[in-house]
Amino acid sequence: MEDELIGIKNAALTFILEAIDPKELEETKLQFLGKSGKLTLAIKEISSVPKEKRKEIGMLANEVKQTIEQTIKDQEQVLSKQKKSNLIEKIDVTNPGIKPALGHLHLITQAIDEITQIFEHLGFNRVRYSEVDWDYYAFTALNFPKDHPARDEWETFFIKSQENPKNGKMVLIPHTSSGQIREMERVKPPIRMLNIAKCYRRQSDVSHTPMFHQFEGLVIDKNISITHLKGTLEYFVKSYFGEKRKSRIRPYHFQFTEPSFEVDVSCGVCLGIGCKLCKAGWLEMGGAGMVHPSVLKAGGIDSKEYTGFAFGWGVERVLMMKEDMEIDDLRLLYSNDLRFLEQF
Ligand code: DAH
Repeated sequence: MEDELIGIKNAALTFILEAIDPKELEETKLQFLGKSGKLTLAIKEISSVPKEKRKEIGMLANEVKQTIEQTIKDQEQVLSKQKKSNLIEKIDVTNPGIKPALGHLHLITQAIDEITQIFEHLGFNRVRYSEVDWDYYAFTALNFPKDHPARDEWETFFIKSQENPKNGKMVLIPHTSSGQIREMERVKPPIRMLNIAKCYRRQSDVSHTPMFHQFEGLVIDKNISITHLKGTLEYFVKSYFGEKRKSRIRPYHFQFTEPSFEVDVSCGVCLGIGCKLCKAGWLEMGGAGMVHPSVLKAGGIDSKEYTGFAFGWGVERVLMMKEDMEIDDLRLLYSNDLRFLEQF
């Protein structure tokens, strides 16, 4: 009986350790520990062993059973680990991988690219002038009187710098119009400039940010009239906002243009009928006008020979008008909150 038990144990262990999958292991288990398994049957026979040997044989049978059970458990683990590593081997490295999440250009950058393309079709030349400039370029040369409110400390950011007799103080440009004079100094007419830059003003509320973007157009040539301005506006409005939108100009006042206008675009929601979003069917886009002779003079251009028009609009503003966006707080554009930016 003793030999039989040892034989069963050895046989079981070889089967168990050679099992290559859980199914084979399960079959081995049944073969030895099942109802009519080899060990189960042997244990039943213990009752016929002479009394004095029965206890010893019983203990041996128990030990054999425990060893077989433990070895089965160990082998189960070995097989499950192998299964996992087999899985890894089965990965097809030629399959396309998982693409990492990619961002996109900021809304304002996208708008700037689009605006640039539209004006490039009309032959405008994109330029970018310094965001720190002299008071002279931002105000004086643009015909602003010395006491104009825009020059107040609380409108414009002045930079601590030595005052220059001709140029005055340094400022963070409050508008892109400073590029007009820079361009006139750089090239001779004909001029078709598109200056897009960051501008800065002391303002921060739901509809204003201290930093914002403007795009400034300047055209100077012989015989330039308001019709050229109107045609350019209409081309931009139809290209950027869509064929259904219209533009109109209203008389206004700016220091550096004469005559000056405010430019409106028909509302994209009600298409000019009048709704909650607009003022009687129109949305205000920005300023424009015919370049003032004093500005041409400051730029070294003879106003008897040349005339021109200019316009300056906010990138944030046209973007909101295009998307019919109702952003409760414009500052969201610059707070880098992905929950907001990913919506576009
Ligand atoms: N610079 C003006 C502003 O920031 C906008 C403007 C008005 C620009 C009329 C122009 C213009 O070129 O002709 O409010």
